[in-house]
Amino acid sequence: MDTPWNKDLRDQIIGLGERSVHKSYYTQMRRRMAELEDLLEGAIAALSTMSEIRDPYTGGHQQRVAELAEGLARTMGLDGPTCRLLHVAGMLHDIGKISVPFEILNKPRSLTEAEFSLVRTHSESGYEILRPLRFEGPVAEIVREHHERLDGSGYPQGLRGDGLRLESRILAVADVVEAMSFHRPYRPALGISAALEEILAGRGTRFDPRVCDACSALLGEGRPPFTFSRDGLGSLGPCG
Ligand SMILES: [Fe+2]
Repeated sequence: MDTPWNKDLRDQIIGLGERSVHKSYYTQMRRRMAELEDLLEGAIAALSTMSEIRDPYTGGHQQRVAELAEGLARTMGLDGPTCRLLHVAGMLHDIGKISVPFEILNKPRSLTEAEFSLVRTHSESGYEILRPLRFEGPVAEIVREHHERLDGSGYPQGLRGDGLRLESRILAVADVVEAMSFHRPYRPALGISAALEEILAGRGTRFDPRVCDACSALLGEGRPPFTFSRDGLGSLGPCG
C-alpha cells in the first residue's frame, strides 16, 4: 500500500524514466529527420543534374535560378518556408526539358515556331513529373507556372493577375535574369544590365512590380548574393 512518501518517490522515478525515454526518442527523431532532409536535398540535386546533363550549355542554370529566386524572396521579406520552397522549385523548374529532343535544346540557331512549341511543353511536362512527389509546398504547380506572365501573355495556361501565385512570379523573374545573363547555344550572354532592363521594361505588365523592385535592389544598388563576371552572373554564393 502506498504511503504519501513512497507514492511521491515512485511518481518521481516514473517521471524521470518517462522523460529520459522521451528525450532519447526525441533525439532519435531529430537525427532521422536530419537524415531524411539530407536525402531529399541529395535527391533534388540529382534530379536537377539529370535534367541538365543533356543540355550542357545551360549547366548550372537551375542552381543559379534557385539561388536568385531564394535571394529575391528574402529581399521581399518572405518567410523561411517560402524561401526554401522557391529554392526547391528553382532547382527543378526545367526538369520537363527531359522530354525535349537534344537537337532542339542544343540548336545553335534560332528555333522555328514548331521547335519552340515543343520547348514550350516543358513546363507542363515538369508538372507531370513532379506532381506525384509530396513536397511541403506546391513545387509542381510553381514549375508549371514559371513561364506564365502577369498580363496573361505567358504559357501554358495564360494565367494572369491574382491567378498567378507569388512564388511563380518570383521564379519567372529569376529565370529571365539568369537566362539573359549567360550564353545560350544560339546567342552570347547579354549581360546583367540587359537582363535588368528587360525586367524593368515589363514591370507591372509581364512581371510583378514588387519582384522587379526586389530584383533591382538585389542586383543593382543593393548587396547582391553573388559575384558578377563581364559576361553576366559569376559564381553564385548562398543567399541571405
Ligand atoms: Fe523553363
